[in-house]
Amino acid sequence: MNSISYWLYLCLILRASSACKNEKEDITVTKIIQNSGLNEGPHWDHQSQKLFFVDIFNQKIFSFDPATGTTRSVYIANGPVGVAIPVYNELNTFIVGTGTDFALVNWNSNEDNTSATVEVKATVDKGKTNTRWNDGKVDSSGRFWGGTMGPEINSVVTPNQGTFYSIDSDFIPKVQISPVSISNGLTWSLLDDTLYYIDSPTYQIAAYDYDPHSGGISNKRIIFDLQKNNIPGLPDGMTIDSDGNLWVAVYNGARVIQINPVTKELIRTVHLPTSKVTSVTFGGPLLDTLYVTTSGLGPIEMKNEAMYAGGIFAIKNLGVHGLLPNLFRTNV
Ligand code: BGC
Ligand code: CA
Repeated sequence: MNSISYWLYLCLILRASSACKNEKEDITVTKIIQNSGLNEGPHWDHQSQKLFFVDIFNQKIFSFDPATGTTRSVYIANGPVGVAIPVYNELNTFIVGTGTDFALVNWNSNEDNTSATVEVKATVDKGKTNTRWNDGKVDSSGRFWGGTMGPEINSVVTPNQGTFYSIDSDFIPKVQISPVSISNGLTWSLLDDTLYYIDSPTYQIAAYDYDPHSGGISNKRIIFDLQKNNIPGLPDGMTIDSDGNLWVAVYNGARVIQINPVTKELIRTVHLPTSKVTSVTFGGPLLDTLYVTTSGLGPIEMKNEAMYAGGIFAIKNLGVHGLLPNLFRTNV
C-alpha cells in the first residue's frame, strides 16, 4: 500500500476523527436558518458569539446564536438595510447602511424589535435616485468601507450608478472608486497592505495597494476573473482565511470558491444547494465555520432549491479558519 492509499485507508476507519478533516467528503454544508429575503453581510461577533446578517429588502438586521439556535431581528423603518456592523465598545450600537443613509442604530440583539432608534450621520449618492447601500466592512483602523448600487429591476441592475466610499469616525464619506455598478465583497490582506474588492458585474476580483493610516488606495490590478476561469455566476461577498486565501460567494453560481490571490488560482469549490449565494464570513469559537448567506428572491433554478433559497448555511471541516472582523470606531 503506498502512502496515499494508506492515508485514505486510515481516513476510512477514522472517519469521524480530525485525521480526515481536509478530505472533501468530510466538509459539511448545513442549513441553519431559513429566511426568504435577500440575506447579506454576515458578521461574526466574537464578544457575544453570535452571527449577525441583514435581510436587505425586509429591512432587518438578524442575530443568530449557534449555541441556542435562537434568531432575533430588528426592523429598520429608514429603508433597505445593506450592511450592519457593531460599533467598538458601544453596547448594542451598530453602524448601518440603510437606503443611502449611514446611521447609528441601537438594538439589543437578544430582543425581537419592530422598531429601533436610527440616528442618520451621513447620506451618500446625493442627487442620485434609486441607489442603495450594498456590502460594507470595517478596516483595521476602525474605518468603514462600503458602496452602493443602482436600481435592480427583474435582476437587471442599471450600471455605473454606484460609488465605493470610506467613512471615518468624522462620518464624512470619502469617494474611493466611482462609478461602480454593484459594489460588493471586500477584505484586506493579512499584511494589511492590500484591499481586495468586487464590483460584481465585472466578474473580477480586484486588488489595490492600501494604506491603513491614510485610508488611501491605488494601483488597481485584477487578481481573478470568474468568466476567464469558466466559473458561472457573479462574484459577490468575500472574506479571507488565515492563510491569506480569499473565499468568494458566487451569486447565480450555487457555490463558494477559495482563491489564492498571489498565484491567482482557484483552490477549491464548495457547492451549495441554492444558486444565489450572496456572502461569506468565518465564525464560531475557533473561527473555523464558514457562514454563508443566500437570497430567496428571484426564480428557482435548481432541483429542490425552494427549500434552500434564502437559507443561511454553516460549512464545517474546511480545515481553515478566518480572522476576527473589525468593528467601527467612533472616537479614533
Ligand atoms: C446585491 C443584489 C445583487 C447581487 C449580485 C448582491 O450583493 O445585494 O441585489 O443582485 O449582489 O451579485
Ligand atoms: Ca453582497
